[in-house]
Amino acid sequence: MFFLVLGTRPEIIKCSPVIRAFENQDVPYHVIHSGQHYSYEMDRVFFEELMLPAPGFALEAGSGSHGRQTARILSGVEEILQSHRPSAVLVQGDTNTVLAGALAAVKLHIPVAHIEAGLRSFDRKMPEEINRVVADHISRFLFAPTPVARKNLLSEGIGEEKIFVTGNTIVDAVYQNLDIARARPLNIPGTGGIGEGRYILATAHREENVDDKRNLQGILEGLGELAGETGMPVIFPVHPRTRKMMEVFSLVPDGIRLIPPIGYLEFLRLESSARLVLTDSGGVQEESCILHVPCVTLRENTERPETLDAGANVLAGTDPARIVREGLAMLDKRRDWKNPFGDGRAAERIAGVLLRTGEEISSFEKTKV
Ligand code: UD1
Ligand code: UDP
Repeated sequence: MFFLVLGTRPEIIKCSPVIRAFENQDVPYHVIHSGQHYSYEMDRVFFEELMLPAPGFALEAGSGSHGRQTARILSGVEEILQSHRPSAVLVQGDTNTVLAGALAAVKLHIPVAHIEAGLRSFDRKMPEEINRVVADHISRFLFAPTPVARKNLLSEGIGEEKIFVTGNTIVDAVYQNLDIARARPLNIPGTGGIGEGRYILATAHREENVDDKRNLQGILEGLGELAGETGMPVIFPVHPRTRKMMEVFSLVPDGIRLIPPIGYLEFLRLESSARLVLTDSGGVQEESCILHVPCVTLRENTERPETLDAGANVLAGTDPARIVREGLAMLDKRRDWKNPFGDGRAAERIAGVLLRTGEEISSFEKTKV
């Protein structure tokens, strides 16, 4: 029996193909939902749209400081694992849910499988970088999405035998949902009047961007100016952290169309027909690359350098003038780059590796008794 610990928007989306692969291959599994994300539009909407079964366990850890949130998830997951003793625990990505789920498992000597292992921004001020490094170093199975990620792991001394290059499950999620998304009309509330390829899509939620008044203001100003320069509407589905910080800093953006966070099918619909994407999101950088929509990343670094190498993405930080400059330059970018994140069969490979080695683990455990 495998246990999958998840709890935020990107984890639900990126784990959905893994859950589907488990279902298709009759792999026994349970999902523990940490409750890190809990608002309907950050959580339930994805279970509904992606037709995922309700999680077997729900911790309702909620929001809080890093320590408090991680601790609540850690002790909740530990309790469940103690009574169920799965043969491995899977985590995906770099959130506090990942850190807590992996720590709970490894301390109980349960092998950890890390999906999307080996990503590095080399910026330890990012909470996600700490979570990635710790999760990778305590994992038994490292599912690296690309050869770049594999190389990062090897250079930190992680054994080759633990690493499997699978592709990123986001490609699976995009391929599994794009046709359904594109069959929908482009009439998402708040986006009235936009036309195919004639609008810009933006998101921002990174702690180091939106919890800092200067950075958040710079992003909002840059987006507003870009809307003015291009004459195209900028659609911005606002993450709850960002909404909260706009209120805290009393920022009232000008020239941008702010809408609430939207479901995955709605987001894919908007993203696939956008002329340009600006974001500080990891998943959105990957998706825009997969969808052949040019991207400007509102950060000084990225743990997805494959997108830069492909020519699909550039870094612009949070300075308004630089955002406008890079945005204008990317508008007419040729879109014929190759997707570096795999063929859409990552989840199938992950399930295959776990099934093979899962049998080894359980027969090994039997020999120990
Ligand atoms: C978390 C992850 C981040 C990931 C992001 C995906 C960590 C350290 N951060 O950031 O890596 O990119 O999820 O979106 O794990 N809130 C709500 N409703 C919700 C969830 C959050 O209103 O359902 C608000 C609360 O005010 C909360 C704030 O958003 O305090 C931040 O939530 P939190 O889960 O701590 O971090 P994210 O910014 O969502
Ligand atoms: N996304 C969504 N609705 C939105 C914004 C984003 O469904 O309003 C999806 C997007 O398609 C991507 C994922 O959320 O798959 C990215 O999550 P997020 O930006 O919150 O986190 P990150 O990837 O940076 O960890």
